[in-house]
Amino acid sequence: MQALAADPTEARVEALLKRMTLDEKLGQMSQSTELRAPLSEKNKAEIRQGRWGSFLNAAGPAERVEAQRIALKESRLGIPLIFGRDVIHGYRTVFPIPLGQAASWDPELIRQAARVAGREAARSGVHWTFAPMLDITRDPRWGRVAETLGEDPYLTSILGAAMVRGFQGGSIGAADSIAACAKHYVGYGAAEGGRDYNTTWIPEIELRNVFLRPFDAARQAGVATFMSAFNSLNGVPTSGNEFTLRQVLRKEWKYDGMVVSDWESIREMIPHGYAADPADAAFKGLRGGVDMEMVSTTYFDHLKALIASGQVPMSWIDDGVRNILRLKLRMGLFDRQPAGLAIAADPEGAAIARRIAAQSAVLLKNDSNTLPLTTKTIAVIGPLADSPVDQMGAWVMDADPKEVRTPLAALRDRLGEGRVHWARGLKSSRDQSRDGFAEALGAARASDVVLLFLGEEQILSGEAHSRAFLNLPGAQEALVEEVAKAGKPIVAVIMAGRPLTFPSVAAKSSAVLYAWHPGTMGGPALADVLFGDAVPSGRLPITFPRTVGQVPIHYAHMSTGRPPSEKELGIPMGTPLDPRGFTSKYLDVDFTPEFPFGFGLSYTTFEYANLRLSSPSMSLAGSLTISADISNTGSRDAVETVQLYTRQLAASITRPVRELRAFRRVHLRAGEKQTVEFTLKASDLAFYNSKMQLAAEPGDFHVWVAPDSALGLQAAFKLTR
Ligand code: GLC
Repeated sequence: MQALAADPTEARVEALLKRMTLDEKLGQMSQSTELRAPLSEKNKAEIRQGRWGSFLNAAGPAERVEAQRIALKESRLGIPLIFGRDVIHGYRTVFPIPLGQAASWDPELIRQAARVAGREAARSGVHWTFAPMLDITRDPRWGRVAETLGEDPYLTSILGAAMVRGFQGGSIGAADSIAACAKHYVGYGAAEGGRDYNTTWIPEIELRNVFLRPFDAARQAGVATFMSAFNSLNGVPTSGNEFTLRQVLRKEWKYDGMVVSDWESIREMIPHGYAADPADAAFKGLRGGVDMEMVSTTYFDHLKALIASGQVPMSWIDDGVRNILRLKLRMGLFDRQPAGLAIAADPEGAAIARRIAAQSAVLLKNDSNTLPLTTKTIAVIGPLADSPVDQMGAWVMDADPKEVRTPLAALRDRLGEGRVHWARGLKSSRDQSRDGFAEALGAARASDVVLLFLGEEQILSGEAHSRAFLNLPGAQEALVEEVAKAGKPIVAVIMAGRPLTFPSVAAKSSAVLYAWHPGTMGGPALADVLFGDAVPSGRLPITFPRTVGQVPIHYAHMSTGRPPSEKELGIPMGTPLDPRGFTSKYLDVDFTPEFPFGFGLSYTTFEYANLRLSSPSMSLAGSLTISADISNTGSRDAVETVQLYTRQLAASITRPVRELRAFRRVHLRAGEKQTVEFTLKASDLAFYNSKMQLAAEPGDFHVWVAPDSALGLQAAFKLTR
């Protein structure tokens, strides 16, 4: 009890808990989306009864003010509600989708964007966002890849922690902060077949060395809540998984935040075949360690009987309620009288949205320096050049499409209407009709250069929107074929929520810029990049396959016993049975990716030279300094993202052929050379071994200072006992 006296929050939690009835406890553990605008009499009565602890994604600022007033003033104990909402990549001001933001490799800018989102949401009475999504995935078929920060656990950890700090600000008790939520805990992105909600089988070693790492980083960054997931993990649904929710999260990580289930994921343990009925689902969700049930009502409906029958100890309920009350007290919700709430864009939002959208764009091809444009007259063609809703991407709930600045509008602003020949070409990215082709070809013929805005409409990615193919939907490739007849240089600007495959479009284009779904200010940002006001510095946070047949594909793969070296394709008829060609490759496509993790071009060139290590070895308690000279050998000032990778050549378990260990965004003026230095600690090389011990192991290593995961200056060092 000593600890309680020392911590006033804990003392208040205990004092409240003692006064709560079982119904009030179960009410706190229940989250609903049924808040009407205006509030229904049922809403008001239930809030007075303490039937709900939280509402999500419902009603607006006025209803939140009224509902909170009733909870604080008219319920028996005056316990406030906590309002949750999916503020995934912006609230009123929309930033690029998280996968796009990740391409900036800029944690500080990502933090600033999340800070804007936090302020905008808090100002409208939202207390809690269900972000950042920290799922690792290597499967672009999965619709929710759009919401991830990519394939790499280190990059996802750094950027996810930045989002947490952005949403939560200096303290979750501040009026302009919102609680963040590490989701979907855990392994959701490993869904078989890239099909959403599908089964995941992840060995504990892989779970700890890859999938859990970003969640631990978010915990260390102070994330206030976790969200369990929809997927079954090794046979046990993550919303009832004692290993992840109790053993790892509570026992090993000592986490004292609150865990909410995902939408009906407690009840879904019935169709999973893990719970026999709603009462069993409630039992297994609570036993697993979920404190608050989102949308389904098995807790409220069945835990009272389970308590009465002795199947559920009251301590399980009290522990869950403690975590909920602690969060509300830490956020100061008991003492906040909401007023004057409104949905409004933050004054800093537009500038940050423009910057991060420009920094997220990845230049994949730029033959003969087609970009930046110097031309006088351009054709703007394609359905995504003027599609505000698509440009904002998935998971946008509170933005106004009228506030979106599209590429067409931005280019007309920059060049004047007369110098922009606009033709949509297709009604949408899925349109199969060629009715608009003639007009598109005409626009191309009347222009010096063609900007083709292609990709996916936003509804083709996001939750439950997985695709079995990664090609450009609709007749977009045919549109490019038609427009190419004009014989003008083509710049393809691709907006999408995932890596796509577009070899024929890339072959016909002089330049390719990958813009993801760039958000509210995507138009001005892309115009800035296309005309050189912003030099592209984006780097891929996820591997781009040549074909969907290569999926899953990622850079940090294991070597195998027969690593392919040659890129031979095909196999001549009558080839004799000869073991020499038996390596881990394909006969019909080059086994390497189309574009590797970390890849991106610039409007200048960089040279890496003079890689040097402070020592040829380090002890298990030591560290190494690794440095290289990076020169800007071109004519434009630019930012290069210098990446540090290592490989352990032999260990007690097989280890990836490369692992990102650090990165640095370096601004270099034209002609400038800088020495970039990294400190690598032996502890950075630790991994979970087959005994589930986190430890570095002595051995031989390679290290790269590199522009991406396929290239770089290489050296070797030893890790000694
Ligand atoms: C959804 C998503 C989750 C979201 C929640 C609330 O189904 O899986 O990411 O935060 O429900 O909308």
